[in-house]
Amino acid sequence: MKKLIAGNWKMHTTLAEARELARGIVQGLGEAPRPEVAVAPPYTALAAVADVLAGTPVHLAAQDVFWEEKGAFTGAISPLMLVDVGCRLVIVGHSERRQHFGETDATVNRKVKAALKAGLAPIVCVGETLAQREEGRTLAVVERQIREGLAELPADAGARLVIAYEPVWAIGTGRTATPAQAQEVHAFIRTLLPGVLGTARVRILYGGSVTPDNAAALLAEPDIDGALVGGASLMAASFLAIIAAA
Ligand code: 13P
Repeated sequence: MKKLIAGNWKMHTTLAEARELARGIVQGLGEAPRPEVAVAPPYTALAAVADVLAGTPVHLAAQDVFWEEKGAFTGAISPLMLVDVGCRLVIVGHSERRQHFGETDATVNRKVKAALKAGLAPIVCVGETLAQREEGRTLAVVERQIREGLAELPADAGARLVIAYEPVWAIGTGRTATPAQAQEVHAFIRTLLPGVLGTARVRILYGGSVTPDNAAALLAEPDIDGALVGGASLMAASFLAIIAAA
């Protein structure tokens, strides 16, 4: 499986900054065999970044989506709008959405279904908090997020869907999961997938303080199929170094 390195820009970048960052990534990619690459700018910059990425191998992703196609849903963005602006992928259920915006496994499930129906590839985020890990509940929490977030999907969902394991305690903290800690959860998720999606051949990304220094060791683990990068994706040089490490 080809690895996928995705940059989640979160609530960063003006239009000018977004264009410059996207240009820097495209120009630095080079011709060498490389993983698949995607960037997820904020909604306001999607169209501008789509222009920069046109004709390049870098995919456009969004950071969230609503489940309805259109209607009176002030502030929301539909899957069709994301397709229209050029998105191939969309992050769903990021822990920051769960923490600050009331996302639940049930809303994640509705969004995943809507994204798939529109032809998008959802990147579904799961992961435990520090308290849950210390209570020994990591695998139980992740299992619930997977079973409920990915419940009752179409039979071919596994071909497009991506999972991202992002332990909440590792996000933006500089405290990366060790390769062994991440591998343990990735392997566990993989064992769940035949029952949930009908296939285990699904990319499972790791996210949480991935940097050029730790990327190679994480990506060398057998069940780590790529990375979802936050802070280190905001500078072309560090994002490119992570891509090179894959
Ligand atoms: P950091 O790489 O900044 O820890 O963020 C990870 C993340 O949340 C990616 O979605």
